[in-house]
Amino acid sequence: MKLCVAVLLFYMFQVIHGQPDYQGFISIDCGIPLNSTYQDSITNIVYVSDYGFITTGENRIISSDYMEPSLAKRYSNLRFFPHGPRNCYTLRSLVMGNKYLVRASFYYGNYDGLGKPPVFDLYLGTNYWHEVNYSDAGAFNWMDIILVVPTDYLQVCLVNKGMGNPFISGLDLRPLNTTLYPEVNASQSLVLVNSNRFHMGPTDNSIIRL
Ligand SMILES: *[C@@H]1O[C@H](CO)[C@@H](O)[C@H](O)[C@H]1NC(C)=O
Ligand SMILES: *[C@@H]1O[C@H](CO)[C@@H](O)[C@H](O)[C@H]1NC(C)=O
Ligand SMILES: *[C@@H]1O[C@H](CO)[C@@H](O)[C@H](O)[C@H]1NC(C)=O
Ligand SMILES: *[C@@H]1O[C@H](CO)[C@@H](O)[C@H](O)[C@H]1NC(C)=O
Repeated sequence: MKLCVAVLLFYMFQVIHGQPDYQGFISIDCGIPLNSTYQDSITNIVYVSDYGFITTGENRIISSDYMEPSLAKRYSNLRFFPHGPRNCYTLRSLVMGNKYLVRASFYYGNYDGLGKPPVFDLYLGTNYWHEVNYSDAGAFNWMDIILVVPTDYLQVCLVNKGMGNPFISGLDLRPLNTTLYPEVNASQSLVLVNSNRFHMGPTDNSIIRL
């Protein structure tokens, strides 16, 4: 019995960089020092650094003007991409054909001192996901997509379109029971932008507003 508990604890707190954890979760706090991890005291989620998921980009801390005591740790830093038109995170060791929720989070916080959040595009591999265009420097924004993964990995790409360097504050992946969101299948994903909902056919890039 004691051994079981010890083994369970080992798996709960063992974090392998670049891999889902024992629950199949991936929780990246983009912009924390490479190879570092921490456990959020409110959600108990263990966040890992970008290490193992992406090799490009640079870490930054948001402007002190936006740093508030109540700010979740994951929003106090970010990773930005000054080089290359396209920078991708690779989420590995997924189960082909299973359903997942992917959430990309953004908190600009004037990290670059320009006072102007960039506008860029998000892709899942080569499929267009959504434009990131949030004009409020101090707003929390996120974009969710629910999809069936066609392979055992997924790439989340930030694409520069000449309107500032793309950045990201957090990237999460959660496995979903395949019985949830029956409208989502191998050819149709569901995009949710903050609380707005979109339908998206990733094979032909068509988006139908709900
Ligand atoms: C991160 O950890 C890996 C293996 O655990 C190691 O090979 C690598 O050098 C580390 N990188 C940094 C930047 O600490
Ligand atoms: C970004 O959003 C603003 C205001 O919501 C809009 O005026 C602007 O055209 C958008 N930019 C792009 C490139 O979509
Ligand atoms: C998925 O949901 C169904 C129906 O609610 C349930 O019977 C099944 O056990 C669930 N599977 C998992 C892996 O949770
Ligand atoms: C996904 O669902 C849509 C709408 O219900 C349907 O037209 C399409 O054939 C389905 N695709 C697959 C691969 O099941």
